Amino acid sequence: MSGTTLFEVTEEHLNRGLRGVPVGTCSTSQVRPEEGLYYMGLPVSDLALKSPEEVIYLLFYGKFASDQELTRFKQELVKRSSLHSDAKKAIFQLPKKGSAMDHFSIAIMLAGMYEKVENYREDCLNLFAKIPEIAAHVINSYAGWGQTPPTKPELGYMENFTQMLNVPGKDSDALNELFRLFNVLHYDHGGGNLSTFVGKAVSSGLEDLYGSIAAAMNALAGPKHGRANADTLAFNRGLLDEVGDPTPENVEKALRKRIKEKQLIFGFGHAVLRVEDSRAKIFYEVLARRYPDTPLAKLALILREVGPKVLKENPKISNPYPNVDAVSGTVMTEAGFAYPEFSTVLFGLSRTVGISIQIMQEREANIPIYRPKYIFKAPI
Ligand code: MLT
Repeated sequence: MSGTTLFEVTEEHLNRGLRGVPVGTCSTSQVRPEEGLYYMGLPVSDLALKSPEEVIYLLFYGKFASDQELTRFKQELVKRSSLHSDAKKAIFQLPKKGSAMDHFSIAIMLAGMYEKVENYREDCLNLFAKIPEIAAHVINSYAGWGQTPPTKPELGYMENFTQMLNVPGKDSDALNELFRLFNVLHYDHGGGNLSTFVGKAVSSGLEDLYGSIAAAMNALAGPKHGRANADTLAFNRGLLDEVGDPTPENVEKALRKRIKEKQLIFGFGHAVLRVEDSRAKIFYEVLARRYPDTPLAKLALILREVGPKVLKENPKISNPYPNVDAVSGTVMTEAGFAYPEFSTVLFGLSRTVGISIQIMQEREANIPIYRPKYIFKAPI
């Protein structure tokens, strides 16, 4: 690759958030504009129904586990899973203020204070093992759902998470299916999404893994990144309130009205993708199979058709197709987790895996401290 011109930077690229500018390499995953997300060279649709432990192993070691290796890996995660009791207490003592993501990011810092060993590889495995319990404490505490039941990691990675969550009236089977799928589909999304980039940048100053991931989670918390899931669900609910019983005609009319009023249209488009998000495709299939008749699900399925039709009329829109957020919040709601205030925490619980591995790989490759150049511009 050495000596090859990859990209020409012109003045137009300045102050555009480094959009499209190559800054490094990523070995775990790739976002192919015309095809969607790939993990280790495999389309995410081939991996969606595998167990979280299998996919984490694949991303961490770069190969599928044999049966024996998978059993050992699961045992390893179980062994590493318990969180220091003082860290748990401290999470429950956080002020009942701020967002759930504020709590999640602080909880990761707290866990690091008690648990870090300052070796990226070891901290990676420890954090994968502990992050379901960290997230469960954050959600139970923030929601006021009471103390978290003792962890039972031998149940399985996401099954234990479901078991620890005190969701009122929970249907454990539906939540297990949802959380396993949501988790696997959100592990990684290339290197350039904001939270991954921030995590890697912070770790390049040799901040430890927990501090780097907490920084990444603060990046994920924003409405333009991880919070888009909750905002899209609110947008869909607003449309539903307006149309009542959704039909292609009334949804199209409501959408056109919002476009005319220059309101934001949520759940469509992506910085890299130029087709429907492959993760969205998987969630749409679940929705159509499991919950086809509920009004919110009907609306999401109609929007899948009507949204691109209407958005394509604007030639300035480079990707009029649904992204994962267009549908994931609806599936979550229908599966019994109607708490959008926690959807970014669930996203962060998953994305911690991919970001941690990318950080570990950059640290093991001794990538130098990030130091891009800002060009001086005299104030006007
Ligand atoms: C993601 O999954 O991280 C989002 O799609 C955002 C992105 O890729 O930029």
